[in-house]
Amino acid sequence: MPFDLKSYLREKIERLEKEFPEALVQHNIPAPLYESMHYSLMAGGKRLRPILVLAVLEAFDKPIERGLPYAIAIEMIHTYSLIHDDLPAMDDDDLRRGKPTNHKVFGEATAILAGDALLTRAFGLVAESYLHHPEVKPETTVQLLVELSKRAGEQGMVGGQMADMLGERQALTLQQLEYIHQHKTGDLLVASLRGGGYLSEASPEQIDALTQYAFKIGLAFQIKDDILDIEGDAALLGKSVGSDVSNEKATYPSLLGLEESKERLHSLVVDAKAALTSAGITHEALFALADYVMERVN
Ligand code: IPE
Ligand code: IPE
Ligand code: MG
Ligand code: MG
Ligand code: MG
Repeated sequence: MPFDLKSYLREKIERLEKEFPEALVQHNIPAPLYESMHYSLMAGGKRLRPILVLAVLEAFDKPIERGLPYAIAIEMIHTYSLIHDDLPAMDDDDLRRGKPTNHKVFGEATAILAGDALLTRAFGLVAESYLHHPEVKPETTVQLLVELSKRAGEQGMVGGQMADMLGERQALTLQQLEYIHQHKTGDLLVASLRGGGYLSEASPEQIDALTQYAFKIGLAFQIKDDILDIEGDAALLGKSVGSDVSNEKATYPSLLGLEESKERLHSLVVDAKAALTSAGITHEALFALADYVMERVN
């Protein structure tokens, strides 16, 4: 029977979304801050990054429960990055995950603070969940925290977002554009796969293959995001289209044209799968998720 990605995604999203509200501290925080954090975290979204964490655990025959705190933390960091990315000072977008953007509902100051709080909570959640976890060594918890900090921070996603802003209205080389994509988008995917690998006690060679896979699908993911910003349907996407053109962003389609961008997207997905195969990782969900990056409509 062919792999049923639709049911797989549905089942994982259901599982994750049951856990999200409990992962937020609910007492003793100002109500608008909690509501704003909850609003964006529960607004929907594909949940690709946390699903990838869980898929890695499955690939190594480990219980997915072990991956939940780390998976939720990654989704919190991703959600914070979207809240800030949509702010007027950044991409200035009004629609996200099919709903008005956080600052449109709660105001800019609360949106900034909700992002700050989600980011900070993510690290606390990983530390407190794994500190006394019977199956996770303290060294692994430290590795997870280092991984998150490196991939989300100035060397990673935040650095990529900065380069993206600096690249507005500039003629960039393909190499500069790849740097932006790798960091602003690829690095959180890398953290998802490597973290899943650490939690699964994968060998260094396997971690390396997971990293290669993540790097390729990360680049592919942002190329597809850029294509959808041109060709996508806002109603399906749940976010505004045309944002890149109006902000004069450097994108793959703006540099290479749509056709060549699509060819690159395809070959990156092929390479991503080959990286797994070469290390003997054959979990079907990871192959199907690579295809999904290319074929998705939202
Ligand atoms: C959007 O990410 C931001 C990028 C890194 C391109 P997603 O497309 O994963 O957004 P959600 O989580 O599904 O809303
Ligand atoms: C943002 O890239 C990546 C992030 C780190 C949030 P984009 O600005 O292209 O993401 P969208 O299109 O607004 O989701
Ligand atoms: Mg942006
Ligand atoms: Mg944006
Ligand atoms: Mg985009």
